[in-house]
Amino acid sequence: MAGRIPQAFIDELIARTDIVELIGGRVQLKKAGREWKACCPFHNEKTPSFWVSPDKQFYHCFGCGAHGTALGFLMEHDKLPFPDAVEELASRLGLEVPREGGDAPRTRPGEDLYELLASVTQFYRDSLRESKRAKAYLEGRGITAESCVKFAVGYAPDAWDAVLRRFGGSAARERALLEAGLVVERSGKGESGCYDRFRDRVMFPIRDARGRPIAFGGRILDQGEPKYLNSPETALFHKGRELYGLYEARQALRKVERLLVVEGYVDVVRLAQSGIAWSVATLGTATTPEHLNRLFRVTSELVFCFDGDTAGRNAAWRALENALEHARDGRQLRFLFLPEGHDPDTLVGEEGAAAFEARVAGAVPISEFLVGQLVTRTDLSSIDGRARLAELARPLLARVPPGVYRELLVEHLAEAVRMPAGRLEQLLRARVPGARGTAAPPQPAGARRPPRSAGRQPLLTQAIQLLLHHPGAAQSVTAVPAWVAGEQKGFPVLRELLETTRAEPRLSTAQLIERWRERPEGARLAELAGEESLVRDARAAGRELVSLLERIGLELGPGKRLDELIAASRERRLSDDEQKEFQGLLGAKAPARKR
Ligand code: UTP
Ligand code: MN
Repeated sequence: MAGRIPQAFIDELIARTDIVELIGGRVQLKKAGREWKACCPFHNEKTPSFWVSPDKQFYHCFGCGAHGTALGFLMEHDKLPFPDAVEELASRLGLEVPREGGDAPRTRPGEDLYELLASVTQFYRDSLRESKRAKAYLEGRGITAESCVKFAVGYAPDAWDAVLRRFGGSAARERALLEAGLVVERSGKGESGCYDRFRDRVMFPIRDARGRPIAFGGRILDQGEPKYLNSPETALFHKGRELYGLYEARQALRKVERLLVVEGYVDVVRLAQSGIAWSVATLGTATTPEHLNRLFRVTSELVFCFDGDTAGRNAAWRALENALEHARDGRQLRFLFLPEGHDPDTLVGEEGAAAFEARVAGAVPISEFLVGQLVTRTDLSSIDGRARLAELARPLLARVPPGVYRELLVEHLAEAVRMPAGRLEQLLRARVPGARGTAAPPQPAGARRPPRSAGRQPLLTQAIQLLLHHPGAAQSVTAVPAWVAGEQKGFPVLRELLETTRAEPRLSTAQLIERWRERPEGARLAELAGEESLVRDARAAGRELVSLLERIGLELGPGKRLDELIAASRERRLSDDEQKEFQGLLGAKAPARKR
């Protein structure tokens, strides 16, 4: 088995590959100023919002938010796993991929977990065939054998060691089972070893975009707790990102016109079975921004489905808050409320697909739901009430990207408050400092791009972004300020970026981003790198960075005092009073983090 690919080699690949050429071979690119543009290959569009920057060696779509390096592009576009994407770039350059660690070869996390999960899926399917009880349960729920094949539904036998015995033959294999979340370590005193996580449950495999099982949801057959048991987060499975049924929907449909977002596994299966193949389920969580990004790459119309009860309305409101940032021209976001006590599974069973589709057709657009909810919270007969409604709407509307969609929303709201739209817009714009979402969304590059107003993003974010856009700027920083040693949000990232870019001034944006690929902050950094840079040339970037660092220092309070305290804390334990002062200086004046 191959060892890990050295970071230095990835640096080299990124340095030697031309992203414009790589993407140009797959997508028709047009020159636009210093950059290149095209209709985005990741979502449907008629006017180009996909940009490729030769300077940053980075691509970014202002429509769907897709972004990344040459490696990332290959992974997304050609649907390659990371090592294969590396191979592909290397072979274009005629390079051999070196591997680390001669005699103890390590695979990338997960590389062979896929195989293990596939085998276990098969094992569960075989067990289903042998279990009368499980088959009867599924039949009782109206799930056909055909659906079981389509969704690879299986059954985990009623034993503590069925999977363990079969797949945990050695210490290494047992560890793999643990990493895959299939077994649990015994935790009692003097106990050791593992046991099967899933026992006597109907098993729904959760598959990734390429159809590989990466996790499971297991439903208990009888009464019991928990009703559903899901795989834990693993190297392969992040529940805030995955959607049950997305792979199956894409398999079933040539073009996914719209997607219905429901709550349960059984809902998805029953809907598909009755001909509504376009549903997906979140995995016991609210819809995350990551879910939305993924969904809007597949389709331009989403319908969120909720129970009609209070809990359902509350969940819908949370979904709305997350979805506003994704509301824009060419996209449809609607909400479907089901009668209390029903879910899609029972409804489609009772009334059939046609009636259910009619319900979907009547789903409420996000704008209507938003205004409707706001209106119920205020008394529109009084001027005060109408002002309050504008007040409530402001932070929400601040999240909606400018465009026709936002204008419609404002008009709709203006109608409700009986106020001219222009007047309301003024009200909404007033007093924004500090409001969430004031950071303008990325705008298409080129002449029509209004500059992002500097100073709206927190200074710390600006500094991080500047370093990402112009890694060379760090050379202008002659003395790294002491406050950089702080541990609050964002500081460690800035610190590390400064260290790296000072040590390696010639790194490109893409190389920098690749180094963060597997870290939690990686996605956010890539996003920042994709946004438009205000500062064009390298010398201006150096000056700007120095000034930003100074301004952050000032914002942090009497910077000198803080520097002293940080320096002192390295040498000795701070006294209680000093501690308090230190916390105060750091906490109160720390630049607020965006989001
Ligand atoms: P529900 O409790 O609404 O059940 O869970 P359901 O989908 O209607 O299930 P059936 O019809 O009784 O089989 C909705 C979703 O919430 C998650 C699961 O993803 C489930 O599909 N869930 C629910 C859990 O993760 N754990 C639980 O204990 C319950
Ligand atoms: Mn149900």
